[in-house]
Amino acid sequence: MVDMNLQEDPPAAPENRACGGCGCAGAGLHPVDVLSAEHQTILAVLAAMAAEQRALFDGGPVREPFWQAALEFLAGYADRCHHGKEEQLLFAELEQAGMSRERGPTACMRAEHDMGRQARQAMVEALQDHDAPRLAEAAGGYVALLRDHIDKEDHVLFPLARSMLDAAAVARLQAGFARVEHDDLGEGVHGRYEQLARDLAGGLPPAPPR
Ligand SMILES: [Fe+2]
Repeated sequence: MVDMNLQEDPPAAPENRACGGCGCAGAGLHPVDVLSAEHQTILAVLAAMAAEQRALFDGGPVREPFWQAALEFLAGYADRCHHGKEEQLLFAELEQAGMSRERGPTACMRAEHDMGRQARQAMVEALQDHDAPRLAEAAGGYVALLRDHIDKEDHVLFPLARSMLDAAAVARLQAGFARVEHDDLGEGVHGRYEQLARDLAGGLPPAPPR
């Protein structure tokens, strides 16, 4: 059963200034600090989604520009950029350092990323069908899942990662994050998603980044 009792969060929209705003750790940040900063950006969007979701439950209209922009942010930033760095780089390093790929914390986090992808797809389909109750239910599930997931990473996995990663692993991750930002995502894309997050947190119906 999905918990629909979403907690109010302050609609913070922090500005990630790492490496000129792209978050690639080019300024020498620890990779865990880069990922933690991205969590704050995702949480700001989740707070905006929770407010929209409550409005839907109260009978409000489906604001399609908001939901289309939010879904674009979740696909491009939360999943492709952030979860990509975690799954392909951080988790791989931790598993290389001895964490069980089958039964360790990274296995749990990978499974929750997959649950998030399914919940996002449910939102996409509900929006296509203009089904407000289904969209509200799927959004409530997604927000609750991601908030709980981020809390586990921030308070359990990331402290563990700091203790397991040696200097060589940190350097490999910094180089890997830069590849994701500059080669995979493309120059300037991270910054445009950060701006989109601020627009969403401000309640605006912005255009998705190109
Ligand atoms: Fe994360």
